[in-house]
Amino acid sequence: MSSPRYQSPDELNILAFETSCDDTSVAVISGGRILANFLASQKVIHEQYGGVLPEAASRAHQTNLLPVLNAALEKSGLQLSDFHAIAFTRGPGLLGSLLVGVSFAKALALSLDLPLIAVHHIQAHVLAHFIDEPRPSFPFLCLTVSGGHTQIMLVRDHLDMEVIGTTIDDAAGEAFDKTAKLLGLGYPGGPVLDKLAQQGVARFSFSEPQIAGYDFSFSGLKTQFARFLQQNQAADACFIKDNLNDICASVQERIVSFLLNKLRRAARDMGIKEIAIAGGVSANSLLRSALKTMGEQEGWQTYIPAFAYCTDNAAMIAMTAHYLYQRREFVGQDVAPLARIPLD
Ligand code: KG4
Ligand code: ZN
Repeated sequence: MSSPRYQSPDELNILAFETSCDDTSVAVISGGRILANFLASQKVIHEQYGGVLPEAASRAHQTNLLPVLNAALEKSGLQLSDFHAIAFTRGPGLLGSLLVGVSFAKALALSLDLPLIAVHHIQAHVLAHFIDEPRPSFPFLCLTVSGGHTQIMLVRDHLDMEVIGTTIDDAAGEAFDKTAKLLGLGYPGGPVLDKLAQQGVARFSFSEPQIAGYDFSFSGLKTQFARFLQQNQAADACFIKDNLNDICASVQERIVSFLLNKLRRAARDMGIKEIAIAGGVSANSLLRSALKTMGEQEGWQTYIPAFAYCTDNAAMIAMTAHYLYQRREFVGQDVAPLARIPLD
């Protein structure tokens, strides 16, 4: 492509694509403001398999991309000729799903002679906090909890983030989903478990995993929970059915307390009082309310994303691209998706 004419941030229009997992999303950002953020969910397809079926997800992205793009363009009032850059999620995520979005974005950028911006999905979850007010001040800590990640990040600037704690096995979202599966709640189980837990009392006790530093591990909790169900079901075949809400409340409480106790430890050690959560699990009602309570006790300013920006969405990709453009961080047509990418 010809070398891009630099556009000032106030007038910068970017079209962004997110296809890292099972949601196809397209967003338009103009002057740092989101004008449109559309999403086609594939939950129905994956419910029947009890998880995301990568092949089906890739095919659905192919079908969904054009209608979602058209809806986003229409809502934004912009035309393809109004854009200054095309952004896409490069990873981490499912390779086949990423490939569809990356190829689509590359073809569009080539045909419009526009620069391409490759976005890191997890960095974008954190930068979802800059879409709306109030925005955190630097440095802040962000607990990023999704279906694939559980990390405490020290965020020094929009594009300067360091992972200071991470999971050594399952992610928090997986812990919710696997627990929900053991209870026969379908996929994705996190939101269902959350809803049932709101009607229950956390009267069953599970011990908190003891892991060094700011790291996490959920496999022990999962085993503890599976044994608890087996033993109680063996004694009473209706145990799960009769106690479902309370079981959900109990396991949710333990997952959330584990996450927040680690976050508190990091915040105290580092003397940071600007605290955020991000990623799909930040939609969890208990995590949201317990963070607020802990924040009041600890004197934190807490930041919780709007529901639409917790789970995967292209608005966060667009927001990240807005900052990357200002650093002229463009990629060439030879860029490839990556299932795993470190943050730095
Ligand atoms: O960020 P996300 O949409 O996709 C990934 O990048 O992984 O996160 C999806 C995860 C799933 O594991 C889902 O069960 C979980 O977020 N999740 C929830 C809730 N809403 C979504 N977990 C617990 N409570 C919720 N309300
Ligand atoms: Zn995500």
